[in-house]
Amino acid sequence: MAYADVYTSWQNDPEAFWLKQAEAIDWVEPPKQALFERGDHIYEWFADARVNTCWNAVDRHCENGRGHQTAIIWDSPVTHTKREISYFELRNRVANLAGALRAKGVEKGDRVIIYMPMIPEALEAMLACARLGAIHSVVFGGFAAHELAVRVDDAKPKCIIAASCGIESGRIVHYKPLLDGALEQSTHQPDFCVIFQREQEVAHLEEGRDVNWHGFQFGTEPADCVPVEGNHPAYILYTSGTTGQPKGVVRPTAGHLVALNWTMKNIYNVDPGDVFWAASDVGWVVGHSYICYAPLIHGNTTIVFEGKPVGTPDAGTFWRVISEHKVKSFFTAPTAFRAVKREDPKGEFIEKYDLSNLNAIYLAGERADPDTIEWTKKMTGKPVYDHWWQTETGWTIAGNPVGIEPLPVKIGSPTVAMPGYDIRILDEEGHEVPAGTLGAIAVKLPLPPGTLPTLWNAPERFEKSYLAHFPGYYETGDAGMKDEDGYLWIMARTDDVINVAGHRLSTGGMEEVLASHPDVAECAVIGVADELKGQLPMGFVCLTKGVNRPHDEIATECVKLVRDQIGPVAAFKLVTVVDRLPKTRSGKILRASMVKIADGQEFKTPATIDDPAILDEIREAVGTLGYPLKKAG
Ligand code: COA
Ligand code: AMP
Repeated sequence: MAYADVYTSWQNDPEAFWLKQAEAIDWVEPPKQALFERGDHIYEWFADARVNTCWNAVDRHCENGRGHQTAIIWDSPVTHTKREISYFELRNRVANLAGALRAKGVEKGDRVIIYMPMIPEALEAMLACARLGAIHSVVFGGFAAHELAVRVDDAKPKCIIAASCGIESGRIVHYKPLLDGALEQSTHQPDFCVIFQREQEVAHLEEGRDVNWHGFQFGTEPADCVPVEGNHPAYILYTSGTTGQPKGVVRPTAGHLVALNWTMKNIYNVDPGDVFWAASDVGWVVGHSYICYAPLIHGNTTIVFEGKPVGTPDAGTFWRVISEHKVKSFFTAPTAFRAVKREDPKGEFIEKYDLSNLNAIYLAGERADPDTIEWTKKMTGKPVYDHWWQTETGWTIAGNPVGIEPLPVKIGSPTVAMPGYDIRILDEEGHEVPAGTLGAIAVKLPLPPGTLPTLWNAPERFEKSYLAHFPGYYETGDAGMKDEDGYLWIMARTDDVINVAGHRLSTGGMEEVLASHPDVAECAVIGVADELKGQLPMGFVCLTKGVNRPHDEIATECVKLVRDQIGPVAAFKLVTVVDRLPKTRSGKILRASMVKIADGQEFKTPATIDDPAILDEIREAVGTLGYPLKKAG
């Protein structure tokens, strides 16, 4: 079958298409109906079914002859450790952990926050929650205590599962003190915390609240899989929006199972038993979908990699892992290859390893720049496929359906819409624009299975953020166009979200933090282009009248404040003091013009500007930070 036939078969009968894909899942009660319309543009998938995610990701493979197959390979260059866990072992470990959680009162619907580094226990914790029907929310380790506290107060977990520490190149990240700090700040308190003690740092346990991962499992009964309704939330994953309050994306159970399972063959072109590797982090959506759930649901072997593309120990680490574990499909963010290319431009490390098992490389998470794609393709001799998706969707909106039929690659385009997504390019008024014209990228409702039905605790925000602007459509927040062949081109975000090293961050959130500095009267944060990380945040602060302290001292405090409040992952290091910010006559800060100045792009002074002279002051200020960057060559 060709891609066009598959897409058309979905268009002609979405209900039949998704019920057919649902046959690949083991149901307690199979769905009789695929789509349920709940009114007001709210949709649910497979709501009449009953199912358990952990059963599908683990137990069924033990029943079907894959028990001895390796489910998880842990490869941790930062601790010099490698370990393999079979599906049988995984089942025992997850059932035991789930049993111990249940013995302490965790039940279906309870929230559990997971704050762990790239160790297999992170996946085991996720799966143990899924086994009980508990709703996990994984928080990325690079966030500060305050961000963790915000999530604790929103999700109100019964339990938090954390590791004693994480390991970043050359430094220990003290997870447990960060967790303690978060719980000092949060109003909500969990009933208990489970701490996985790593040998690199053994944490102090708070008596009466903290239990030891191994110890608390002693003498408890393993738990069986608890069937849940198809629309039961499998997890909440917080992602950046336009404000400091993150959005809790809800992932429904059944749609997640059906959609992710479909993607493994049709997009990533792997069969059960193949080794699949997504070099990301469990704290991000790529980690949820493609380190944990999809490969396991599909009966693949997944790799949990604790390291960086460079420096752990060198720029050959990706190729070593691919070669050693016989990876068939590899998925990462373009920034990772930019880092490798910078260290090893001639691909000397690549030549050292046998990549014969590798069929293809997949990129997502940020714009894939043509240079990086070309370099990766040339050095590895493998096809490189860009694909576009979001935390909200959990899987590819537009990609190359390699397992159906590899479509010709147009470098710079993530290719075409996947079945389930009716992508439209709209103008401000919501009218479709012709091919080749820029507009807002929207998806005609309903979104396919696995995508978000709502935001946790915030149905109004869901409606306002995604549905209100273009009635009948989901607003992606990205701008772009479709060409004559139906290929999609992603250009930029239409909101204040920036993408730093494949990590989605909110400039609005950073502005809220800067505004809390006692000497800051007003501020703006923009995203500027960066050759390694794609974008970097740059802050401009105006001081409160009468403040007469050295500007570099204040700038240093601002950097520290963002690191302490949001975390190192914000990569906020560029900040400068200015007298005033450029604004429209109605008082709106002209951030887009500031971005153009910092990136050294030509632009027209907005007609609505209050005082054009301020733009020269901004030009001068970005100059003190070394911007615009000089282009290489
Ligand atoms: N726990 C604690 N701190 C973390 C962390 C974690 N899990 N992950 C990152 N950090 C810290 C880093 O140590 C760094 O701290 P520093 O300011 O003290 O140096 C800071 O957060 C910024 O991290 P990052 O932007 O990732 O920069 P980096 O220099 O550490 O690494 C890359 C750059 C490109 C190598 C890395 O970002 C990468 O591999 N990215 C691609 C893969 C990926 O994760 N994609 C996600 C979506 S698919
Ligand atoms: P996240 O939710 O963190 O995965 O971030 C999603 C956002 O990252 C999207 O809305 C895009 O802005 C950007 N993004 C993800 N993949 C791509 C891609 N292949 N090309 C361009 N931008 C991308």
